[in-house]
Amino acid sequence: MKYRFSDRIATLKPSAIREMLKADPDPEAVSFAAGNPSPETFPTEQMARIASDIFADEAGAAFQYGITEGYMPLRQVTRERIRRKYQTGTDDDDVIIVSGGQQGIELAAKVLANEGETVICEEPSFIGALNGFRVQNLKLVGIPCDGDGMQTDLLEEQLKAHPDTRLIYTIPTFQNPNGSTLSLERRKRMLELAEQYDVMIIEDSPYFELRYEGEYVPTIKSMDKNGRVIFCGSYSKVIAPGIRIGYVCGPKEVLTKMTVAKQVSDVHTNLFFQMLVCRLVSDDGFDAHIAECCKLYRHRRDLMLSALEKKIEPGKATWTRPFGGLFVWVQLPEGYDGMELCRILKEKKLTCVPGNTFCVDANAISNGVRLNFSLPTDAQIEKGCSILAESINEFVK
Ligand SMILES: Cc1ncc(COP(=O)(O)O)c(C=O)c1O
Repeated sequence: MKYRFSDRIATLKPSAIREMLKADPDPEAVSFAAGNPSPETFPTEQMARIASDIFADEAGAAFQYGITEGYMPLRQVTRERIRRKYQTGTDDDDVIIVSGGQQGIELAAKVLANEGETVICEEPSFIGALNGFRVQNLKLVGIPCDGDGMQTDLLEEQLKAHPDTRLIYTIPTFQNPNGSTLSLERRKRMLELAEQYDVMIIEDSPYFELRYEGEYVPTIKSMDKNGRVIFCGSYSKVIAPGIRIGYVCGPKEVLTKMTVAKQVSDVHTNLFFQMLVCRLVSDDGFDAHIAECCKLYRHRRDLMLSALEKKIEPGKATWTRPFGGLFVWVQLPEGYDGMELCRILKEKKLTCVPGNTFCVDANAISNGVRLNFSLPTDAQIEKGCSILAESINEFVK
């Protein structure tokens, strides 16, 4: 049977990350490819206790249809938490619960941009969002990043060159894939340009609570006076991704439209897990739990960085030193192809994700390679970094 697919899906390729995750069942193989938090951090005992309490006290409500905006107590707790701790959200904003940050990004684009209009994003950027935009037939324009995130000095010329730009999509804090954090000055400049050119910003920040060092940098949303920023957050990285609970904080009028779009997408997010997350986040121990996650990831990040430092010969590659999040981004010298390196690594039983996966033009050659440090064990980090360094030392002439 020859299937006829819609134009909207025809250009989408299966995510290279998903394909790589399937690969290599060999227990000796090491993977730096995933973007997953470590299951060691999942608060499973507490979740089991809360789950049994919900079955005992609220099963009727937990397994009934709910409202599309989300479970009201979780919306309130989330709203209060991000406002108190991160000055994010004003009286004119609301919070809705979505099925992961991924859905928040997709819904925001759906209600704010028409087919064919432009979204400006970082280059490289999160493939889930890029595919979410592609499937809506939005045009993507990438702006290169350096250690301080998107190079906002290049933003204005792109806004001028693409007057149909409706959205700037940014991951300002501990970016996926490159680990960078957008500086305060650039955050202000981005917001200023968004005002000047009348575009909305999607601030995607699923990692902002996973900081291992350095000063807190205010969210763009916290500086937003005119309802220009849609803040997408998630409980995936600080509780567990399988529960699929994220949230969006933004102007009420925009969230009302997103709620209508969500209604036709999945009616509402899983109510049982919304109730469970509500009780978890309301618990006094929730901040201590996040601190424990940070402790584990800080250790793994440090291990990876020091192994790279020790093992890669000077001049053969550079890499980012993320202050938080889950990723280190390695860059080969100009002209070298990260994809070719990943093929060599794969043969040596190390999986990494090639940089072009995260590019606006997936056929472009990228000298970047993404490494994840949250999931591998200490021994796997040591072993994987040895394979990586040995391969880079040989590959780069
Ligand atoms: C930058 C970024 N945004 C959004 C998401 C989506 O997270 P979730 O849908 O699990 O909340 C991810 C997941 O890896 C991500 O890296």
